[in-house]
Amino acid sequence: MAGPRITVVQDGEELARVAADLVADVISAIPAASIVAATGKTPMGLYAELAARRRAGILDTGAISAVQLDEYLGLEPDDDRSLLGWLQRSFLEPLGVGDDRVLRLPVDGDLDTACAAFDRTVEARGIDLAILGLGPNGHLGFNEPPSDPKSPTRVVELTPITLEANARYWGEGAEVPSEAVTLGMPHLLSARTVVLVIAGGGKRDIARRALTGPIGPEVPASFLQQTDAAVIVDRDAWGEP
Ligand code: GLP
Repeated sequence: MAGPRITVVQDGEELARVAADLVADVISAIPAASIVAATGKTPMGLYAELAARRRAGILDTGAISAVQLDEYLGLEPDDDRSLLGWLQRSFLEPLGVGDDRVLRLPVDGDLDTACAAFDRTVEARGIDLAILGLGPNGHLGFNEPPSDPKSPTRVVELTPITLEANARYWGEGAEVPSEAVTLGMPHLLSARTVVLVIAGGGKRDIARRALTGPIGPEVPASFLQQTDAAVIVDRDAWGEP
């Protein structure tokens, strides 16, 4: 295993373009690709670039499907702060991916049973492409530390650092839900292609720890060192080359 391929880019525009080239390569090789797409700020430019390519007729997303990466628990079904809502606005609708082509994480009922069933479905289908961001504590999706490569799809208690980081997406005075459900680590680590996008000076320490530090459950993203993930990181997050 050669390990991750790290590309350092100047800014958000270059990050979006370089990442979109990788995503477009996957979709042209596998038109019906099953794709995990993270929410969060970092991949938004990438999704806008993909939508622009689709509008220009140079990217055909007509057969792709999506597998949900993470979701808060305890929300009303129509709460537009849900991660599914964010995914719909930023990725699914702009790329024309209808509800029938989205595998949604379970958010109610017997979650242990439902998460195990979800894992079986995803395992049978496989993930062709996982577009991931890096949490401030090294999480992938909501695989909070400690998470190891076998951590399945499950309910997680969000850590204070994640709650604080996500408060900016949640609205003045509102409390970020403390529980969530996340797609498990095995699906992310075994995706045929992983594209990890990292941006901003606030991610510098965790980016270095995840990509060059000791591999272990305390930094879940560090397990990507054992894969050939494509990492696209901006200069602010990586420092001068
Ligand atoms: C959130 C999400 C992750 C996302 C990460 C980074 O907590 N659960 O899926 O990748 O944080 O977000 P951002 O790109 O906004 O820094």
